[in-house]
Amino acid sequence: MKIQVINGPNLNLLGKREPETYGKLSFEEFFEKLKVRFPDVELFYYQSNVEGDLINKLHEIGFTFDGVILNAGAYTHTSVAIHDAIAAITTPVIEVHISNVYAREEFRHKSLITSKCLGLITGFGMEGYAMAIQHLLIINQ
Ligand code: DQA
Repeated sequence: MKIQVINGPNLNLLGKREPETYGKLSFEEFFEKLKVRFPDVELFYYQSNVEGDLINKLHEIGFTFDGVILNAGAYTHTSVAIHDAIAAITTPVIEVHISNVYAREEFRHKSLITSKCLGLITGFGMEGYAMAIQHLLIINQ
């Protein structure tokens, strides 16, 4: 089973960025632990701060992989183009946010991508990525 994790803008700074909101661990450190927890899953990680690069990655893997775990960062709240890319591909996409976006500023309460995703996990820290893998394992068995 192949799962692509995609992180959007500013998530390259996890561990350094607002640790009170996003935690002290870098995503690279977390991802290594995730691979150990799910040895039977082929896990791939991609991060970009550029909207078009995120769309290109969705196109590249979105017809062959078994699942995508997408944290589109701030593009979640603005990007019609990422909404359309998720609609265009056949691989199911799970939307993940580290923080609880509904407990934060109002501009984070609107997601342009949730309607095209299989589901949404928000507010469980980085554990949300593991929860998404668990769900993809269930639907792919
Ligand atoms: C985020 C929430 C977004 O509102 C924010 O712009 C991010 C991170 C999260 O994981 O909690 O960059 O997606």
